Amino acid sequence: MNFAYKEPLIVQEVAPRDGLQIEKQWVDTADKIALIDALAACGFTRIEAGSFVSPKAIPALRDGEAVFNGIVRKEGVIYVALVPNVKGAERALAARANELNLVMSASQTHNRANMRMSCEDSLAGFGDIVRLVQGASAPVSLNATVATAFGCPFEGRVDEDRVVSIARTYREMGIAGITLADTTGMANPRQVARLVERVLAEVPAADLTLHFHNTRGLGLANVLAAYHAGARRFDAALGGLGGCPFAPGASGNICTEDLVNLCDEMGIPSGIDLVRLIGLSRTLPGLVGHEVPGQVAKAGRNCDVHAVPEYVRAI
Ligand code: COA
Ligand code: ZN
Repeated sequence: MNFAYKEPLIVQEVAPRDGLQIEKQWVDTADKIALIDALAACGFTRIEAGSFVSPKAIPALRDGEAVFNGIVRKEGVIYVALVPNVKGAERALAARANELNLVMSASQTHNRANMRMSCEDSLAGFGDIVRLVQGASAPVSLNATVATAFGCPFEGRVDEDRVVSIARTYREMGIAGITLADTTGMANPRQVARLVERVLAEVPAADLTLHFHNTRGLGLANVLAAYHAGARRFDAALGGLGGCPFAPGASGNICTEDLVNLCDEMGIPSGIDLVRLIGLSRTLPGLVGHEVPGQVAKAGRNCDVHAVPEYVRAI
């Protein structure tokens, strides 16, 4: 294949939001803040640091204000907040989020399960949020996610035309950033390449993010397919944490250190310090109370070679 892997791959770290939202064990506010600050030190330029949703829907992230107020803002890092409605946007603006990530599913059923409203009502709220942000005193950027863009756990197949048309609608509303999210890991590389090509006809690569879950083991294959098709920005969660509590069978995001390892091995620039990242990932079981799915933090890097056993040296 004639393909130069020189174009940087931008990783947006989402463990503090997608990762922690599904955890049963309460993670203290101070630990969340320490995690976000430690992630910033690994070299991320974009971190989804929390969400401003109903505390009844996602109790694990009910301390969003305290988290955003406690982090040390590192220069050059965009701290993103997920918001579902105007109330969430008001909270996120008050907490000085740099970017709001609005979420609606392509499938009506998942949107009703996740957001307790129709897609039409979600979009109407987004219109109000765009007006709110345009009137904000500090500059805040907007991103909107098309969840279940590659399949819905309730409806199955999701129409590609609908996904493209939602992306177009977001842009027409004045929302620059677009995320295509594979909420429950239903995407395959062929489908990803096709949809990314279509959406890139509407959205510049610098504004497009792909959000994959590794639910069926295809996460990194999907990343490569999207990268080949021209996508450059990807969500990933430290340790492979993550999942939507309102999508049956949901499991972790693609794992950040596994993705960064892939980049390092293939010579794709990511700007992330893998050694530091692996060290941080190894602290996760202590934080969430269970083993995490990521593989590279367990195996180490290729170059972390092992001591040759005595019996081998004797041969
Ligand atoms: N932040 C905090 N509280 C909120 C809120 C927000 N963004 N939006 C609504 N609420 C509160 C309301 O004030 C109200 O409180 P009360 O019961 O004390 O009066 C209560 O939640 C119900 O409000 P309502 O507008 O009727 O919400 P709902 O019950 O229809 O739920 C959402 C709608 C969108 C708020 C809720 O489904 C939600 O937060 N979903 C997000 C789920 C999520 O984060 N999924 C994973 C990420 S994709
Ligand atoms: Zn997700």
